[in-house]
Amino acid sequence: MSKNTSDVSMNAIEFVTSPNNPDGKLRKKVLRGESVRAIHDHAYYWPHFTGIPTPADEDIMIFTLSKLTGHAGTRFGWAVIKDEAVYRRMLTYSDESCYGVSRDTQVRALKLLKVVLEGEGRELFTFGYKTMKDRWEKLSHALSFSKRFSIQDIAPVYCSFFQGIRDPSPAFAWFKCEGEEDKDCYTVLRDAGIIGRRGRRCEDVHPTDEILRAAI
Ligand SMILES: Cc1ncc(COP(=O)(O)O)c(C=O)c1O
Repeated sequence: MSKNTSDVSMNAIEFVTSPNNPDGKLRKKVLRGESVRAIHDHAYYWPHFTGIPTPADEDIMIFTLSKLTGHAGTRFGWAVIKDEAVYRRMLTYSDESCYGVSRDTQVRALKLLKVVLEGEGRELFTFGYKTMKDRWEKLSHALSFSKRFSIQDIAPVYCSFFQGIRDPSPAFAWFKCEGEEDKDCYTVLRDAGIIGRRGRRCEDVHPTDEILRAAI
């Protein structure tokens, strides 16, 4: 689908990943039309990773435990769908494409979601935000002395969950090797024990090997 096309006459499903993986930016749908539906992937739309400009309120939203609590292997997610007809079709699809969720996963998800709800649903996010922010601050501070490596700049933003301006606490750092000789940032950092992903693998964001993405 052309990036420049906003009015579409055909049937189309647009996936809007917001915040986007890998660049962490908030995204909006671009396609409009009678037969267009947008599915908002809100895997990272949690206040420990990003400022939440407004509570999530799209027509079709999907979520996962994967990034909420850091239990990717659990493979447990959920959807919030406003239109009942769409809900029924999604139910049919999921019934036919898988045989449900294993007991192990159900028990683990239940336990995790109870923890998420502790402290009126605020404790985990306050803890998570502080932890991620501290890591980002330490990393930014250490790299502020380096001429060899740099990381992305992120501005503080307003968060409706914390009701104020909050500092950055991203899930990923984009390391840039600034030195002429460090053409392959992946290898340079791997030799120092830091394993990330080559920038080239996320072509839209950084097409070269002077960049590496590392989980924080
Ligand atoms: C934006 C986004 N959506 C969904 C997923 C996958 O979630 P799950 O582990 O529940 O399959 C990921 C995992 O990397 C992700 O980054």
